[in-house]
Parts: sequence; C-alpha cells; structure tokens
Amino acid sequence: MSFKILGTGSSLPALRVTNDDLSKKVDTSDEWIVSKTGIKERRILSSESLTDIATDACVKALESANAKIEDIDLIICATTLGDMYIPSMACLVAEKLGAKVPSFDVNAACSGFVYALDVAAGYFARKKVKKVLVVSAEQLSKHVNWQDRTTCVLFGDGAAAVVLGEGNNLLAIRLTCVPDSTALYANYTGGVSPFDTREKLSPYINMNGQAVYRFAVNAACNDLTAVIKEANLNENDISHILLHQANMRIIDAAIAHIKIPKDKFINSIDRTGNVSAVSIPLLLDEANKAKKFKKGDLLAISAFGAGLTTGACVIRW
Ligand code: ACO
Repeated sequence: MSFKILGTGSSLPALRVTNDDLSKKVDTSDEWIVSKTGIKERRILSSESLTDIATDACVKALESANAKIEDIDLIICATTLGDMYIPSMACLVAEKLGAKVPSFDVNAACSGFVYALDVAAGYFARKKVKKVLVVSAEQLSKHVNWQDRTTCVLFGDGAAAVVLGEGNNLLAIRLTCVPDSTALYANYTGGVSPFDTREKLSPYINMNGQAVYRFAVNAACNDLTAVIKEANLNENDISHILLHQANMRIIDAAIAHIKIPKDKFINSIDRTGNVSAVSIPLLLDEANKAKKFKKGDLLAISAFGAGLTTGACVIRW
C-alpha cells in the first residue's frame, strides 16, 4: 500500500515582479536573466503571509479532492523555513484550517516535496492514515540578499498542496543526500547568545552557481533513469516529466541527456522562478487544472537542492 493523489491546489502571492522591475534595483537585465535562467517573472510575498497562501493552497487541494479537513489524518509541510521556526509551518497551517492531527515540517530544500511524499508513503504502508495533506510553502524572498544580482533574480515565493488517499500509485521513489554545506547554504542568524563568541554570519543564501548547475544536471539524469528502472518501466512508458524548476538551462541539459521527447516535460519556471519545494506540486496542480493528465498516465518526478539532496519518483495518475 502506498497512496494515490486525490486532489491538488496552489496559491501564489499577488505581487508579480518582472525582470525589468529587478533591473531597477540591481545591475541586471531581462536579456541576461532570460538567457541564463529562462525566468521572466516571479511572485513575491508582500501583504500576505506564507501561512495565508499555504492555507489557501490546502483549501483548494481539499476542494479538488472532494475532501473536508475533518477527513485528514496527517499534515506534512515541505519548507526550508516557515513564517515561524517555532512552531512548525505545518502547525500554523493546521491552526488556520482548524485541524487537530499530527503536523510537522520536512526540510530537504528543493527536494522537500518528494521527501514528504516518501514520509507519507510510510504512514500509508503502516495503515496509520487514510488521507494525508502534503503542502509545500516557500518564501525564498526572505532569504536572498536583494543587493546580490547573482541570487536575487533566481527565486520566487509560493505554496502548493496535494491530498493523498489510500492506493498503490507510487510505483517507485528514491531519495539521496550527498552532504555539502558549501555549495548552497544560508546561515541561521536569529537570537544571539551572550556566551557565543563566534563571528556573526551572513543570513543570506550563498550559492556556487556552477557547482550547483553540474550537480543538478547529473542528479536529474541519474535519478530519472534509476527511478524509471526501479518502477520496471522504460523511458517510452512515461507520459509526463516534472523536474524541479531551478533553471531552464538545467532542464534543457537534462532533456538533451535523457531519451524522452521535450514535449513530455512540463515547465513553469518562466512565470515563477525557483520556488524550491513548491516547484513540483505547483506543476502538478497547473497540469491537473489544465487537464493535461489522463487517468493511468505515468508521471516521472525529479527534484534536487541544497543538502545536497535529491528526490525522484514515478506516480500513476
Ligand atoms: N545580471 C547580470 N549579470 C550577472 C547576473 C545578473 N543577474 N548575475 C551574475 N552576473 C554576471 C556575473 O557577475 C559574471 O560577470 P563577470 O564575468 O564580469 O564576472 C557573469 O554574469 C557570469 O556569471 P556566472 O556566475 O559565471 O554565470 P553562469 O553562466 O554560471 O550563470 C547561474 C549563473 C544562472 C546562477 C548558473 O550558474 C546556474 O544556473 N546555476 C545553477 C544554480 C541554480 O539554478 N540555482 C538555483 C537554486 S539551487 C536549486 O534549486 C538546486
């Protein structure tokens, strides 16, 4: 027993920030950002909170699944950092939804949604749950240095959720981690203990772009090949590919290496930028709403991010 996806939902902040908007703040241009990343605009939280949009995504996912919050047995939130660090983002969302069920966060950066699916699969396998709400919520705009053109153009904010029910539609799943705290990181710089004599660290996201690029392309190619094989399928059987939306050049490089036609890849990076753990459930929701998936379609999913973590799976729709 694993699970099947019963419904999807998403919610993006109202504020749309274009590349031209950013070029008024830092020394960059629409031409540079589009050619290096494929990103044209991103949504950034302004007056709403991350909890507001995460809750909205959950409400929409429940509607899409024809489920009520009372039906949900567990809430898992994939996030790098919620509105608060105590309590967890999942607890904040549960409070707004009026749920009183076990709720906790999973942090595997951009791979977080796939990690959360694997955790949920364990609950279904132990028959501890009948319905699970998995929500991804990210506010990367809080972590970037808005004076640093090498990172602030890459990210966006958003939330997306799925409702999972009992089923056998998770055909294979693979998680990896090659620990590396230097390629992509952000320090925690909250309260300072009077006993702490160490140097104060920068709070902002720091990234070795070219190292992350190489890691991401390898991860996507290796994980997709491995997980499709683990599901006893071959590339021709796959109906749609959903890759973490970090950079269009990463996606194009993966397409060049994998024997799957380009039109099977579903993308959103031009409109959202890199929304970390939200990337994959947002693609699921957009494609579901656009009726791109038919019952029985096989979806191959691959995400990769800080850690360095990767998560890939094959799901039958
Ligand atoms: N606008 C204009 N110029 C810029 C900008 C910008 N926003 N950012 C950097 N530049 C300049 C640099 O200063 C540099 O100038 P110089 O040659 O005078 O020193 C020049 O552009 C080239 O910079 P590089 O860093 O070498 O550019 P690169 O081709 O590596 O592209 C990028 C940078 C887009 C970040 C690329 O390395 C990349 O795609 N990396 C993958 C990482 C990624 O996508 N991370 C997302 C988060 S991680 C994740 O989700 C897994």
